[in-house]
Amino acid sequence: MAMTRLAAALALAAPLLLGAAPRADDWHDPALSPDRRAALVLAAMTREEKLAMVIGDFASDQVGKPDAHPPAAAREGSAGYVPGVPRLGIPPLWEADAAMGVATQPTARTSRPAVALPSTLATIASWDEGVARAGGAMIGGEARRYGFNVLLAGGINLTREPRNGRNFEYGGEDPLLAGRMVGAQIAGIQSNHIVSTVKHYVLNAQQTDQFTLDARIDPAALRQSDLLAFQIAIERGRPGAVMCAYNIVNGAYACENAPLLRDVLKARWGYPGWVMSDWGAVHSTVASANAGLDQESAATFDAQPYFGAPLAAAIDAGQVPAARLDDMVRRILRAMFANGLFDHPVAIAPIDTAADTAVSQDAAERGAVLLRNARATLPLRAAALRRIVVIGGHADAGVLSGGGSSQVHPRGGSAVKGLAPTGWPGPVIYLPSSPLAELRRAMPGVTIDYLDGRDPAAAARAAARADAAIVFATQWTAESQDTSLTLPDAQNALIDAVARAAPRSVVVLETGGAVLMPWAERVDAILQAWYPGAGGGAAIARLLTGAVNPSGHLPITLPRDDRAGRCRPFGGAPTPGARFTVDYCEGAAVGYKAFDRDGIAPLYPFGHGLSYTRFAFAAPRIARDARGLHATTVIRNTGARTGAAVAQLYVERVGGGWEAPRRLAGWARRTLAPGARQAATIAIDPRLLATFDTAGGQWVIAPGRYRFRIGASSRDLGPPVDIVLPATRFGA
Ligand code: BGC
Repeated sequence: MAMTRLAAALALAAPLLLGAAPRADDWHDPALSPDRRAALVLAAMTREEKLAMVIGDFASDQVGKPDAHPPAAAREGSAGYVPGVPRLGIPPLWEADAAMGVATQPTARTSRPAVALPSTLATIASWDEGVARAGGAMIGGEARRYGFNVLLAGGINLTREPRNGRNFEYGGEDPLLAGRMVGAQIAGIQSNHIVSTVKHYVLNAQQTDQFTLDARIDPAALRQSDLLAFQIAIERGRPGAVMCAYNIVNGAYACENAPLLRDVLKARWGYPGWVMSDWGAVHSTVASANAGLDQESAATFDAQPYFGAPLAAAIDAGQVPAARLDDMVRRILRAMFANGLFDHPVAIAPIDTAADTAVSQDAAERGAVLLRNARATLPLRAAALRRIVVIGGHADAGVLSGGGSSQVHPRGGSAVKGLAPTGWPGPVIYLPSSPLAELRRAMPGVTIDYLDGRDPAAAARAAARADAAIVFATQWTAESQDTSLTLPDAQNALIDAVARAAPRSVVVLETGGAVLMPWAERVDAILQAWYPGAGGGAAIARLLTGAVNPSGHLPITLPRDDRAGRCRPFGGAPTPGARFTVDYCEGAAVGYKAFDRDGIAPLYPFGHGLSYTRFAFAAPRIARDARGLHATTVIRNTGARTGAAVAQLYVERVGGGWEAPRRLAGWARRTLAPGARQAATIAIDPRLLATFDTAGGQWVIAPGRYRFRIGASSRDLGPPVDIVLPATRFGA
């Protein structure tokens, strides 16, 4: 029998109000499972309360809708708000973007300056799950202190299109690397008793016409690539929510895609959390609800609200089972219980900017990739230098960050004001951490001049007078627009002019992802610093001067030209607004896998990254124990400095049959003193040895010979070790 409102209120709220011990089978009892607690609360909810929980508001003013304002209880300037149910003690959902930190828009009444991590791609480049977890814990901590209990972080789409303007927010090319690193970041975020979201499910691989783009891909290939990345991240991070994407996948919008949401995510993987839509990604009531969408986010972005009243009508008409509404709400409540949203309510508290910046700087130092270091140009030695010139990239003021919904606003605003675009997806923000100031601090006896780089001839003259020239090359990329692989504003010509004139030339890249480097062989050193975050200036100075030994490795391929490695044209709909198809013909051969399959030489391969020391890796020993297959190697530091090595394990199927010659099968990162050696054991996920059989719904390891090598990159591999495996099938 249904409880009355009053009875339910008394039953559920009394223990909290009176401070009494919970009664048996009371949702307040933390000893009960999240499932049980969710079921108890659900049973006390009215239909109206349930319907209100599956549709959200935007929590900022919306461009073009001057009369629509966020609800008073929302955190103004943020991405989303879903009211709670006070009579039952259900807290609201306060949702903030996202990947690099608390990303809210300053308004006339409120601002939340936050500490930005380096781009997600930079964190991935550390190949260090500890870095990803610490970064997640830091931004989750700030979210909590700003009163947010849902962080829309956890972007993991694979880099299928190097021109995608959001690659900086995402996980790179490899499903294992992306899955483990983003999973660790999510776990770190959720360690703050808040929910994190993994997104955008799935194949949100370009910005151009993403609302009308139908991503076509072979379902098995999808399981082995982008879906595998999501699957691993979900297993490792257990995010409370999954955000479905804007685009269409194999004919159905991602947020009404039954094969992806209902069948794979929920039925096959047993995902217990909730699916929220991206902001403006819902196109239907019945199809979405029945396909597995659990919550319509910020309905004002959709053509009309599709949940709420239309969902009630669809249930009344028998088009959506009432049990589906219960399932939606149960999933949301369960994730809230599992992550402590009831037991540890968020409370506004001050941010420790210095401590959080140190976390960010550590990630930047471990994720920067030394691409080239001819003539041992780096590290810069103060004792051997009298004059350095730093050129361009606003290095006197700060470091670049990426634009769009993930934009973190630093205290005091951008270090460079007024750069276009000042409106969406801008403003362009330089975080106030000056590489120039930090270099001067690090090398007090050296004269360090600065030129803005707008005059290449003047830059060349200054470079000729200096012992070394450092060019900071930047490319701003952002959500909602794709990018070119060519550095803007004639920076290639600037680099060429400086390289010709300088006795030593160094390029520091602050880019969202890959750019072409026609000058790569003409400069002495290249440091890929990505968007290096709130401590980026200090991180870059410490890397260049050797206070920190570079240890990042590329999570993407850096190509020699902008067509290499892709089998499809790039662009948008021939008719604006019309649905159009992008054939992801590379299937599971994303990034380096296509380069390897087609025998294309990249400029710098996946996995590449130099150090100021040298490492040697022993050929792997492959063994099986109760937990499965693993590889053991010995890593030695054969150089003269302490440094961190990343031993990368690649596997080939001898005789072919895979999407590509080799796959990353695992890695181990170890910090070693000069002369030191350490054994490392790398567990091998059996899915990396298998292909997916969609008809049988299983992973299949074909019988035969498998070849393992340890390498310093995907193109720098040690001796092979073969094993023979029997035919094996296992579930999803
Ligand atoms: C983005 C999401 C983001 C949402 C809310 C959308 O434009 O695609 O990643 O979380 O906005 O700001």
